[in-house]
Amino acid sequence: MSTFSPDRDKHSFVTDIQEIRRRAREHILNGAVTEGYRGDRETVIRVLNEALATEIVCTLRYRRHYFMASGIHAQAVAQEFLQHANEEQGHADLIAERIVQLGGAPDLNPQGLATRSHAEYVEGDSLIEMIKEDLVAERIAIDSYGEIIRYLGANDPTSRRLMEQILATEEEHAEDLRTLLESLGSDGV
Ligand SMILES: [Fe+2]
Ligand SMILES: [Fe+2]
Repeated sequence: MSTFSPDRDKHSFVTDIQEIRRRAREHILNGAVTEGYRGDRETVIRVLNEALATEIVCTLRYRRHYFMASGIHAQAVAQEFLQHANEEQGHADLIAERIVQLGGAPDLNPQGLATRSHAEYVEGDSLIEMIKEDLVAERIAIDSYGEIIRYLGANDPTSRRLMEQILATEEEHAEDLRTLLESLGSDGV
């Protein structure tokens, strides 16, 4: 005799829903983080804080470059620096928001910022040097965000989607910078 019973299956399904709702109520103070969250929350928050530091260092570097850009091609390049600076700030805000959703706190302490960041803060002496340093930083961010995305995998799809969206912009930034170098007659070496 088969043990299959539609009534029983329906019942256990209903029980599951009730159990999920019960758990949601029980941990209501955890906000967006439910018991179904499969990520290692502490590690995800730490990794996101490193990405946050990277975005802030990139914001500061681009802003410095925006103010310091000089020479015949300065105006167009400075506008590109400013746009990137603002976009990196936007990324920082999105990451900070996600950290709070996960029950963490965004680490905005200036002390240790450069150490937590994956990318470096390099001032650069000329327009070409600045663009090259920005391109290096973007390539570092592209690599490390790719790793973060692989780490998040299926365990935290929301953070993964956020990092994928940010990665796509960093790739655009890198392409913008490469085009700038080309138009300024530098082969990037
Ligand atoms: Fe960014
Ligand atoms: Fe970028």
